[in-house]
Amino acid sequence: MNRRVVHARGGLPGDVLTVIEEPEPAAPERGQVLIRTTAFPVHPGDLQAVAAFRGKAAKPVPAGVEATGVVEAIGPGTRVPPGVEVGGRVTVFPQPGAWSQWIVTDAETVVAVPDELSDEVAAQMLVNPLTTVMLRREAEEHPAFGYDGCLVQTAAGSSVGRLVTGASRLHKPALVNVVRSERGAAELRERFPDVPVVATERPGWADEVHRAADGRPVSVAFDPIGGKLAESLLDLLAPGGKLVSYGLIAAEPIAVHASTLVHKSLTLRGKNIGRWLSEASAERRASDVAAAKLLALALKDQFDVAATYGLGELRDAVEHAVRPGKVGTVLVRPW
Ligand SMILES: NC(=O)c1ccc[n+]([C@@H]2O[C@H](COP(=O)([O-])OP(=O)(O)OC[C@H]3O[C@@H](n4cnc5c(N)ncnc54)[C@H](OP(=O)(O)O)[C@@H]3O)[C@@H](O)[C@H]2O)c1
Repeated sequence: MNRRVVHARGGLPGDVLTVIEEPEPAAPERGQVLIRTTAFPVHPGDLQAVAAFRGKAAKPVPAGVEATGVVEAIGPGTRVPPGVEVGGRVTVFPQPGAWSQWIVTDAETVVAVPDELSDEVAAQMLVNPLTTVMLRREAEEHPAFGYDGCLVQTAAGSSVGRLVTGASRLHKPALVNVVRSERGAAELRERFPDVPVVATERPGWADEVHRAADGRPVSVAFDPIGGKLAESLLDLLAPGGKLVSYGLIAAEPIAVHASTLVHKSLTLRGKNIGRWLSEASAERRASDVAAAKLLALALKDQFDVAATYGLGELRDAVEHAVRPGKVGTVLVRPW
């Protein structure tokens, strides 16, 4: 039997996600790869998708988009990406229904896992590193990025935020990290002693960001929160600056008067990995996957695991995945 995580309607993920049993998949066909999974990550975006699902599905909707595992079989005559072989470790993304003991997937979504990476890092090797690559490319379009311009990012202690910081240390653009609590700031200071970090719970935090920027213009801001925090970032940005919004954590909208955009010539940009997938050329996707893999190898210590759960503890896993103060990604071991 195969055990798979599904939901039939939207709602609180802990309430609507269930584990079903179904027959094991048949042998892969041409163009397909059969994978026995060993771990999958519970990303906040996976849970947002479940919560936002509208109506009642005619049949169970499989959950998850990323998983790691071992190749069990390759369909006859199938061309596979470099390094992918029967018995080898791989990670897949995008794979709708990745939260499953067995996955049959298109060969082109399978990426070989380097020997140097543990299963814990392998389970997070694509979504967050690809998001980091996508965000950096967005920043690089600003002429001041990598020159005198300063990058500010909120939710800097998140799994994505730590990779953005790690990548910035490799490539050296000036960065100021922003988190909501002094506790989160202390954690980040210990981890990245050379990167300034400011906590929004302190009054006057925006002035602290300017002081940390040390006279440099704040040219680009990465923000997965939205709402009032994004409004503060628009105030912080120098003329010509760009706010890159990539998450929906705040419930309230971003209220911005046109004069703010017009007088400062600001750019407001939304980015998400789903669009990257549908819009990027095959060559661009391949080169971004290679960049994501390099990031995973260079920053393997930044792929913290908050906790690992079994499939029978799914409710605990999804609750933990959105717990304030959590450091790292929640993983599920499906066997
Ligand atoms: N657009 C895309 O394609 C894409 C791809 C990947 C991820 N994302 C988004 O990126 C964000 C981070 O993902 P992740 O997996 O790295 O998350 P994560 O590791 O679970 O971290 C979430 C972070 O958000 C912070 N946070 C939560 N609520 C907040 C609030 N109201 N105000 C300020 N900070 C708050 C938490 O801070 P504390 O430590 O203080 O709790 C924590 O640092 C998520 O919103 C996710 O949906 C988007």
